Formats: sequence, C-alpha cells, structure tokens
Amino acid sequence: MRSIPAFAAAVLLLPAANAFYLPGAAPRDYVQGEKVDLFVNALTPMLTGANPKLKSLINYDYYNPKFHFCEPSGGPKKQPESLGSILFGDRIFNSPYDIKMLQDNGTCRPLCKVDIIADEAKFINDRIREDYALNWLVDGLPAAEMKVDQRTKEEFYDLGFNLGNNEGIHQNLPALNNHYDIVLKYHKPTPDTYRVVGVLVWPASVGGSQDGPPACDITGNNPLVLKEESAQSVQYTYRVTWHESDTPWATRWDNYLHIFDPKIHWFSLVNSLFIVVFLCAMVSMILVRSVSKDINRYNNVDLSEDVQEDWGWKLVHGEVFRTPRFPLLLSVLSGNGAQLCSMVGVTLVFALLGFLSPSNRGSLATVMMVCWSFFGGIGGYVSARVYASLGGQNRRKNAFITATVFPTLIFIIMFLLNLFLITAGSSGAVPFGTMVAIVALWFGISSPLSAIGSYFGSKHGGIRHPVRVNQIPRQIPPSPFYLKPWVAALLSGILPFGAAFVELYFVLSSLFASRAYYAFGFLALTAGVVALTTATVSILFTYFVLCAEEYRWQWRSFFVGGGSAFWIIAYGLFYWGTRLSLDSTSSRILYIGYLILIALLDFLVTGTIGFVASYWAVTRLYTAIRID
Ligand SMILES: *[C@@H]1O[C@H](CO)[C@@H](O)[C@H](O)[C@H]1NC(C)=O
Repeated sequence: MRSIPAFAAAVLLLPAANAFYLPGAAPRDYVQGEKVDLFVNALTPMLTGANPKLKSLINYDYYNPKFHFCEPSGGPKKQPESLGSILFGDRIFNSPYDIKMLQDNGTCRPLCKVDIIADEAKFINDRIREDYALNWLVDGLPAAEMKVDQRTKEEFYDLGFNLGNNEGIHQNLPALNNHYDIVLKYHKPTPDTYRVVGVLVWPASVGGSQDGPPACDITGNNPLVLKEESAQSVQYTYRVTWHESDTPWATRWDNYLHIFDPKIHWFSLVNSLFIVVFLCAMVSMILVRSVSKDINRYNNVDLSEDVQEDWGWKLVHGEVFRTPRFPLLLSVLSGNGAQLCSMVGVTLVFALLGFLSPSNRGSLATVMMVCWSFFGGIGGYVSARVYASLGGQNRRKNAFITATVFPTLIFIIMFLLNLFLITAGSSGAVPFGTMVAIVALWFGISSPLSAIGSYFGSKHGGIRHPVRVNQIPRQIPPSPFYLKPWVAALLSGILPFGAAFVELYFVLSSLFASRAYYAFGFLALTAGVVALTTATVSILFTYFVLCAEEYRWQWRSFFVGGGSAFWIIAYGLFYWGTRLSLDSTSSRILYIGYLILIALLDFLVTGTIGFVASYWAVTRLYTAIRID
C-alpha cells in the first residue's frame, strides 16, 4: 500500500532530483591545495525557532557598511549574475576567506578585526532580533545549517545560517556570531581530483578579549553581546574542516531539496482532485442533461403552431453576442491574460523537465521574464481577435493599448516598490542596469511582437457567431442577487482557490520566507486543476446567467473566472496575521505591494480562462439550436 504513494511521489519529485544531470552544470574539479572561493550573498530574514514567524521582508547587502563584515583586500567585487537572480534579490560578492582544498584542516584562523560604533551595534542587534541569516556560496552550493525536520525526524540542510542568537537568555541581549565553523564535504571521483559536495556552517559567538590570539571557543559559554552605548572591537575568526563524503557530485543538491511535509502536498492534491471530480459531476449533470433536454425541446417544437414561445436561454439568442460595455478593455485584459497564461504554462513545463534547477540561480525568474516577452505575440493576437469578435472597430488603438498599458502598469508598481526598498536601505532594490534590461525586454521584444500578433489577429477577424444580434435590445428582468457580478465572483472564486490554497501556502513561503520550492510536480498539477476548475465554474455560471435572461455574460464570466484573486488577497492577509510579524512600515508596504501584484496577475490569468471558456461554451450552445 505504501509503495504506491511513494512511487507517485518519486515521479512527481523526480525532476527536482534529476535536475543536475543536465548540461550547463559541469562539475568543477579541484586539486589539493587549489583555492576554493567563498562568495557572500545578501542577508535575508529567516524562519527559525519552534513557532517561526518572518519578521522582515528586506534584504541587506553583505557589505552594507553598518554590518562591518571583513572585506577582501582591494574591496569587494560584484560577481556576474543572471537577470532572474538579480530580480530575486541575489547580490553576490567575493570574500576574504582563504580556503584551499584539503589544507589547514581544523585550524583556528583569524579573519580580521573591526571597530563597531554604538550606532552600528544597534543596527546589528536589530537585525539579529529580526532573525537575519548569512548566505554564502561555495562552488555554487549555498552554505547551510544542519537541521532536523520536527515532523519526519529527517536531517536536512536549511539554507543560510544565523547572524546572531536571540533565543532563550539572548532574547534581550542578542549575541553576534563572530566565529564560523565551516565544514566542507568533498568527494573524490578519482584519486587526485576533489569536488565540493556539501557546505555546512556552524556559527558561534565568541566573547571575551577580542585582542589576543584567536580562541575559536565554540562552547557558547562566553557570548559576544554588542553594547549599544559605546564603540568596541570585534574579532572575526573561522575554521575550515574537510570531510570526505560518499555523495557524488551529481546528487549533491539532494540534501538541500528537502520537501517539508510531503503529506501536506498530497493532502492538497487529493483536495484539488476532489473539487474537480465534484465539479465535473455537477457540470455533466447540469449542462449535459438540461442543455440537451433544452435543445431537444427547442428544436422539436411544432412550427405550425402560432402560439410557440421561447423560454430559458433561448429567449436571449438575439442578445448574447451584443457588444458588451468597454469591449476594448475586455479584449486588452484577455490578451494580456493569454500572454501570462502561456508564460505560466511554459515555465511549468520547463520546471517539470528539470531545467530550472536551483544550481542555476534565478533561472526560474529568468525563464518567466523571457517567456513573457516572447509571448507578446500571443497577447496581441488574442486581444485583436477578441476585440473583433466583440464588435470593436478601432483596431489600432486595441493593438497599441495591448502592447503598452499592462507592462507599464506592472513597471510602475515595481518602480514604486523599488523606491521603498531604496529608502529602507535594502539591497533588494533592483539596480538601474537591470531596470533598463527589463524595459528593453518588454518594450523592445514584447511590444513589437504584440503588434505583429495584433496584425495577424485582425486579419483572422472575429469569431463567427451562430446567431444574429437583434436591432433593439431586450429588457432584462431583475436577476437574483447571487448572479450579481461581485457576489458571483466571490462565490465562484472559492472553488479554484480551494483547489490551490495549500500549494499557495508553500509558494508564499518560498517567495517571502526564502524557503526553497521544488515541488514543481505538485505545482503543475495544481495549476492544471485550477485552470480546469475556473473554466468549468464560469461556464456553469454563464449558463445560469443566460437562463435568467441576463445576456450581459461577457464581463461576468471574466469576473467569475478571476474571483479567486479576491480570495488570494484574503489568504495573503491571513498569512500575514499568522506567519509574519512585520514591524517596519517598509516591510508592510512591500508585502501589500507584492500581494496586490500576485492577485492582479491571478485575476488576469484566471479571468481570461473563464472568459474564453464561456465564449466557447456560448458559441457551442447557440450553434446547437435552430433559430427561425
Ligand atoms: C579534518 O579533521 C577532521 C576532524 O577534526 C577529520 O574528521 C577529517 O577527516 C580531517 N580531514 C582531512 C582531509 O584530513
């Protein structure tokens, strides 16, 4: 019995484990005594302790002058990074650590001595209270702390290690870690080559005299507490220990790819599948049975009788394809939604195939950005065709707005969030050069492609409608309250949201708490379920709306599809309440900003799915009846 879930888990998680056999990530062979570089990345807030809560959302540069970490001679040098890696907050520099393969095993060594003034001590203590962690990289592997998963009792590597200690007796007097015990695991594929296959760091706080020879006393009996009233000096020390390991280079990431609680992913999956089965049953019952009954009744009516009367959705056959309000806006939203949809789909496929391995830092974000830009053509095409189908006339305006407005809006939001990051002194702010690259990608690739797509979309023209639109609009009878757009959106959003919220928790945790996310198999399945649910729910709803003789279904189907966005916002606030304790205003504004951004993207994607699915269903529905 147990082997079936285990097997399925292996299949679902396979891409993550396999990710490193792919080309582009060739192993680096060292000889004995060769220099092993240690790079430092930005400091990030970390989840630690028994009841972890994230206390900040702001990253700091390692060489932020207030931290006073030891700098390499000649000053820190920035390392080249990919676009996605920069966007996701990586800021990688070199470091003064002198590490040579298999040398100085276990020797306590001084790094440097720095003077910390009162102001800086306060800054550092505040960061320790906020559970900040150091992030180092050795040979592309992140330095980790060894932890034990409380639920499964398995050992795993937790990314990053603490800047200081603020637990227990240190709650009010945080201790700064100024000694690092670095354990480097190496593997020997052949007698004279060595490969780095694991990096663990145990930080320690060593108080007492900071002037004498390095002590490397890691017992923790005499911690270093920074005084916030006066200047003091701090000696940084480190010790490198080499441990031989059986782990071959190809699987060296496995220890890092710890999936917290795979059971919850399964629960999520079963939950989503349950929702889908329930929905499909409902839809097949309602749509297939009553629609085919309706169609038979409509088509079998004896035409010789004068008193024949229409009822139900057939009544509005002369109205269903009447141009809705704001056809331009609706088509632009669908176009941009289709562009995002394709991006999400292709990115998930890439992730499933294992291309987006964590060893390629930032590859996920890079692939997303590039896909989005190149799918500009899809956006333009869909927007132009929807616009023509809705009876819009001003094709150029449609093409122009589709290509420019949405990127500009996203860009403005990002720019504002960036301003907050800059004022907060965070390193997470996107540098100017990267901003220029993004603008170039959007307005240099996406927009022209969108224009080309619009051209072809207009050429193909609108969808041919099976029934004609009457000259004079019908009166709309008052509809029940649950068919009002907002109520309907809120109600119907529950189902796709319900199918996804467990997975959403993990996605939010990986976004905000820099927990690594590798369960792409689960994510892809969940995304498929959400798409299916959204489409079904809006088709169902559109059917109800038409039966109530309310023919303005276009905007309604978009809202009903996008209804999950409201629930995402609600869930985001709940997550804030239970998992975050953001003290600084900038962290709060950032969180709200990111949340709105996520909800907006979700609204566009699911709204488009709902609208397109309903359009398809309505066209099918009215093709089936005989109109005289
Ligand atoms: C380094 O020292 C540790 C113990 O201090 C030992 O277990 C390990 O084998 C040593 N490594 C080498 C390469 O000598």
